[in-house]
Amino acid sequence: MKNPIIIFGSSRPKGSTWRAICELNHDRDIPVIDLNTLNITSYDYENKNRDDDYLPLMEKVLKHNPIILATPVYWYSMSAQMKIFIDRLTDCISIRKDIGKSLKGKTLYVLASYSTNLPEGFELPFSQTCTYMSMHYGGCFFYYAGGDRELLKGNDKIKGFYKL
Ligand SMILES: Cc1cc2nc3c(=O)[nH]c(=O)nc-3n(C[C@H](O)[C@H](O)[C@H](O)COP(=O)(O)O)c2cc1C
Repeated sequence: MKNPIIIFGSSRPKGSTWRAICELNHDRDIPVIDLNTLNITSYDYENKNRDDDYLPLMEKVLKHNPIILATPVYWYSMSAQMKIFIDRLTDCISIRKDIGKSLKGKTLYVLASYSTNLPEGFELPFSQTCTYMSMHYGGCFFYYAGGDRELLKGNDKIKGFYKL
C-alpha cells in the first residue's frame, strides 16, 4: 500500500515549486511538509541540534513510502533547505541509526522546478544518496516554470510522473 509524503523546500512558500506540487496533487491528497515551517538547522558534527525538528520529522517520514522531495533548481542544484534536509540524513546513520535502517527499501522521487536550463547532473546527489542509504531512486520530474510555451506543455506529463 503506497502512502506518499512530499517534503517541500523552497524560498517561496507559494512559488513555482508549490505550483508543481499542486499540479501533482490535483486529484490526490498527498500530505506536504514545508521545511520552512520547521526549525531544522544545518548538520552539526557535535549534534548540538539533535533536539530541533529534524528527528521528529524523520520519525513521521518513516510512516510513509514513497518520499517525494520537491525543490526548486537554485544555481544548478537543490535549494539550501533541501540540502540541509539531505545533510541531516547523517544523523540517521550516526545518532539515530534506527531511522536510517527503517529508511532502507523506501523509494525516493524528486520534483524539481526550473526556469532556464535543465541542470546537468542535478539528480546525482539524490540517486547516489539513495544508493548509500539502500533506498530506491524513483526518478525526477523537471517542472518548467519559464515562459517558453512548448516547454510549458511538458508539464502536463506531471500527472503520469508518479502513479499511486
Ligand atoms: C537563487 C536562484 C537560483 C536559480 N538558479 C537556477 C538554475 O540554475 N537553473 C534554472 O533553470 N533556474 C534557476 N532559477 C530559477 C528557478 O529554478 C525557478 O524559477 C523555480 O521554478 C523557482 O521555484 P520557487 O518559486 O519555488 O522558488 C533560480 C532562481 C533563483 C531564485
